[in-house]
This record gives sequence, structure tokens and C-alpha cells, in this order.
Amino acid sequence: MSEDLWAGLVGPFVDEAYASVKGFVRTFVLHHQLLEHLPPPPATILDVGAGAGHQSFPLAQAGYEVMLLDSSAAMLARAQERLERLPADARARVTMLESDGERAEEALGGRRFAAVLCHGVLGYLERPEEMIDQLCRCAEDDGLVSIMTGNAKATVVQPALERRWDDALAAFDERTGIGVLGVRGRADTVEEVATLLEAKGVRQLAWYGVWLFVDWLEFSGVELDPSDTDELTRIAAVELEPPGETPTARSAASFTSSGARLRSDRRHARAPGHRPPT
Ligand SMILES: C[S@@+](CC[C@H](N)C(=O)[O-])C[C@H]1O[C@@H](n2cnc3c(N)ncnc32)[C@H](O)[C@@H]1O
Repeated sequence: MSEDLWAGLVGPFVDEAYASVKGFVRTFVLHHQLLEHLPPPPATILDVGAGAGHQSFPLAQAGYEVMLLDSSAAMLARAQERLERLPADARARVTMLESDGERAEEALGGRRFAAVLCHGVLGYLERPEEMIDQLCRCAEDDGLVSIMTGNAKATVVQPALERRWDDALAAFDERTGIGVLGVRGRADTVEEVATLLEAKGVRQLAWYGVWLFVDWLEFSGVELDPSDTDELTRIAAVELEPPGETPTARSAASFTSSGARLRSDRRHARAPGHRPPT
């Protein structure tokens, strides 16, 4: 394994990005979008580029058997710290593996999972193909693949709302943007990701916007208070409501694309309550 490039980003990612309103909304919205498509617990879930477990720990709490795979030892150490704060039954459903996602199949000895997640990772890779191939290889034949990454059709939004008009004009032809960590990342279109998945036998079921409104507020200079739990709950409810491919979703920074290998397109009812995971 090469140098741990993410070691210096653990603090900004966990203590800043995820402590913000956008961090809360990301976990909440992705969790509920996933529940619409996942088989019921205790199905197995592989989270590739899992970071500190913000996406997979709520799934372990919901009864799923989750494995976090990440190339960063520092990020996994932080996940381990956070894991120790979970109830014992959820803790027992979590395992971790240090590996590059690009060699996940080999590192896992060919084990396959009912669902494979890869959220907020593709944008940091030079090319997405190798990772997408591995995600599909690690999914069971009727399994689910969930990808969240920057939406290349929306790179103009941030510079425009920040009134950087020259940058906004250039962004129409730009495939990169500055993400929540202040690092420049690559973006893909929904169609490109769907095509890459399709080539591996994974058909797209749906895509969604993430951060439909909080991104726009932040870029317009509005400061949201993460300790205002009443507003947080109301923001989360609005962010979750759009049923997927809405024009505002296209303009959002990220999307989730889910696909099922081969023929299955199991859809599960939206979980009742829509309460934020802890
Ligand atoms: C922005 S974080 C996203 C973490 C998590 N998926 C989430 O949404 O909270 C990106 C993570 O991907 C990991 N990562 C980056 N490149 C990777 C690779 N080639 N293989 C496996 N993990 C990788 C990093 O170590 C980091 O933990």
C-alpha cells in the first residue's frame, strides 16, 4: 500500500465536514435513499472507501452486517474510535479491512455482498473505471451497487453562487470542483457512471440529488447552525423529499446511482418515520 494520503484529512473530514449541517444531511439522506433499495437486514454490505463509518454505522445499527474497506489506516483508526461508541449489538456487526478499493475482490478473497457502497470516493481518483469494476465484482449477482460522487453537470453552481463569474463561465467546460474538504476533485455525470456500471452487468435503478438545498445556501453565504436540532430536522425532511431525478437534483453537487447486477430490481418500501440515524 502506498503513502496514506488521507491521514491529514481525517480531522477536517470527521470533525469539520461531518460536524456541519451538510454532514448531517449527507448521512441522513443517503441512509434513507439506501433503505429504499436494500434488502432487509441482516444482509451484508461492503462500504468501499468507508472513511470513519458515517454511512455504514447507521446501517449496522439498523441490523445490517457491514464491512468497511478503506486504503487509509488513519481513517480506519478513526472509524474504530467511533465504533467503540456504538451499542454492543451494532458493534458486533461491523468489520474493517485496510485495502485499496481497486484490489477489493482479491483482498476479500472473492467474497461477495448483497450491497456495495462507494460514497465520496470516485472524485479523488484519476479515473473511475477500475474502482467501478471492483465494486461490481464484489456485489452478489442480484446485489446492489450505490455510488455517490460529484455531478459534472453542476460544477458551475458553486462559482456562480459565490459570484466568481469568470470561474463560473469556465466551469461549464470544467470536470473538477472544490469539494467539502477544500480539495479539488473530479466529477462524473450520472450517464457516465450508469454506462460504466452497465458494462459490468449492473443496471441503474435510480439516481438522487444529495445536498439539494444546503449547498446552495452555503455557497450563497448563509451560515447554518448544526446545533439547532429543530431546523436540522426540518432541513433533513425537505432534502429527503424530492423523489430523485428532479431539476434541482441535477444542479446539486452529488448524486447517488444504484444498480442491481443482472436482472433483479428489488425495490423496498421507504422506511417509516424518516428519523435521522444517530
Ligand atoms: C471523502 S471520504 C468518504 C468516506 C465515506 N465513504 C463517507 O461518505 O463518509 C473518502 C474515503 O475514501 C478513501 N479512499 C480514497 N481512495 C481510496 C481507494 N483507492 N481505495 C480505498 N479507499 C480509498 C479515503 O481514505 C477516505 O476514507
